[in-house]
Amino acid sequence: MGTANAGNDTYDRVTILLHWATVAIVVALFALAWFPGVIKASIFYHKTIGILLLGLIPIRILWRLFLGRKTNTSASEPLLLRLGAQAAHLALYALLLIVPLLGWLYQDAKALPVYAFGIELPMLTYYNREQAALIFEIKKIAAYGLLALIVAHAGAAIVYHHMMRKDGVLRSMLPSCLRATISGFGLLALTSGSAMAQAPFDVNKYAADLAASLAKACPMASTSDVAAHDSCRQEIGKGAESSMRDYHFLFGGQQPARHWLKDKKTSVFRGDLFQQLYMSLYMYTGKYRVETAADGLTVVGVQAYFRNGLPPGQYPYPFWHSNNKWAAYEQSNELRFRLDKNGKVVFAYRADIGSNENRGPYAHVERPSFLGEWMWRDDSGGAQPRITLFSGFYSNDNPTLPALEDSYRKMAISLRNADCTVCHQPEGHSRMNKLTLLQTPLHAATSIDAILYEVRAGKMPVDDHDDPKALSPAIAKALLDNGEAFKKVLDSADEWERANGRPKARKVQTR
Ligand code: HEC
Repeated sequence: MGTANAGNDTYDRVTILLHWATVAIVVALFALAWFPGVIKASIFYHKTIGILLLGLIPIRILWRLFLGRKTNTSASEPLLLRLGAQAAHLALYALLLIVPLLGWLYQDAKALPVYAFGIELPMLTYYNREQAALIFEIKKIAAYGLLALIVAHAGAAIVYHHMMRKDGVLRSMLPSCLRATISGFGLLALTSGSAMAQAPFDVNKYAADLAASLAKACPMASTSDVAAHDSCRQEIGKGAESSMRDYHFLFGGQQPARHWLKDKKTSVFRGDLFQQLYMSLYMYTGKYRVETAADGLTVVGVQAYFRNGLPPGQYPYPFWHSNNKWAAYEQSNELRFRLDKNGKVVFAYRADIGSNENRGPYAHVERPSFLGEWMWRDDSGGAQPRITLFSGFYSNDNPTLPALEDSYRKMAISLRNADCTVCHQPEGHSRMNKLTLLQTPLHAATSIDAILYEVRAGKMPVDDHDDPKALSPAIAKALLDNGEAFKKVLDSADEWERANGRPKARKVQTR
């Protein structure tokens, strides 16, 4: 908004440098996002460069406010235009900060580490699959809003100032031309988490109820007692623990007091699946403790001992594929839940830092060596592991069971054709810290929404550098069609459970 006589009124070098550095970064960001895989690991570079903006833009703003040369502005412009231009510049700066912040939040909500030049940045928010998808959509809108503003901004400089008014505004930034008055960071507040308004959560009561309920559903028994395990699977999920059934959280091994979750291998499970398949492998004594973790979350630890003598089909997959893993399960004596202030599980993990006093005799069980099959058939031809099948998860008299099997089978073929299960199976931890298992009926079922979302958004599958990789149209279509069909059948199975008053019927339609 320089005036026609401001031809020699240019910005200082630092301002010009910062302006064009921003342009270069933004161009690179869009190019890397739009054409993933053109450079190897382009999404990795996109993230790294995006974080750069969070350093650069504040420097720009400070420079602009306190040190930069101000050009002789605007008096000859109509007031409305001047205000409009100021608002646009303010929005530009705001979006240049908001978009990378949303990217950071998105990574956190997916429990992916955020790095700036090798240094891991702090977590702004905890793992939350649904929130991640929402943040990503907002980020997309913000990024395209930013792009639109940039186009308008460049258009104003080139067409309006340079060609129509023939003033010095374009030249003042040449390499030149961005000016804005920036007055506040109020918009940043917009991005801070999602506080749910809820009644105060009483963690001590919850912990006592949880421990009592688990001890009732899954009491101590012989570690090889299949009937006790089946009864536990039947009963678990009806008491205080029912509140964690409807959403996804992370589960993993023992965590250090500080920096938990950092570089730790974890898996994503929906709560109901976690209870049926994983929590039910433990027996509970009713003892518990409540602690405050270094990160401010509350930890509820329930005393729990592992059933290590069951037949292979009772485990979600052969834990003994790794000796360490098997030993860690065998020796664990506490299941721990990190809860936020609303009582939502942020993270669950097994630990051996509890007490063994109620365990009874401990006996290591040696397992036959793992033959590489996550899914297999038993002697009578039945699919295994049996606890990952729909029977047992849904009521035996649920008339949707055959249709479920059928639609799952089609979905499974699609997942295989799209190479999804190459990574999303138990050994996938070699490729990712946070693993989403998709190789069994129940694991696929509880992630169906995320599967459809990731494929539609073009984010899955990825290649070895984690860059999105396009599926052939035929495979993508089959995957989405079979996925939608599978989801429909799952919904009607849930609906039947609800309509027939089954105690563990799903309340919410999110998975
Ligand atoms: C080369 C390995 C690889 C392949 C192949 C792959 N994925 Fe992934 N997948 C990953 C990694 C790594 C992540 C974690 C990154 C993330 O969450 O964005 C992930 C994340 C996901 C998530 C999100 C999990 C969550 O909790 O948010 C879903 C769902 C998913 N993949 C589905 C699929 C589907 C469907 C396919 C096949 C079309 C597929 N993946 C193929 C590696 C892979």
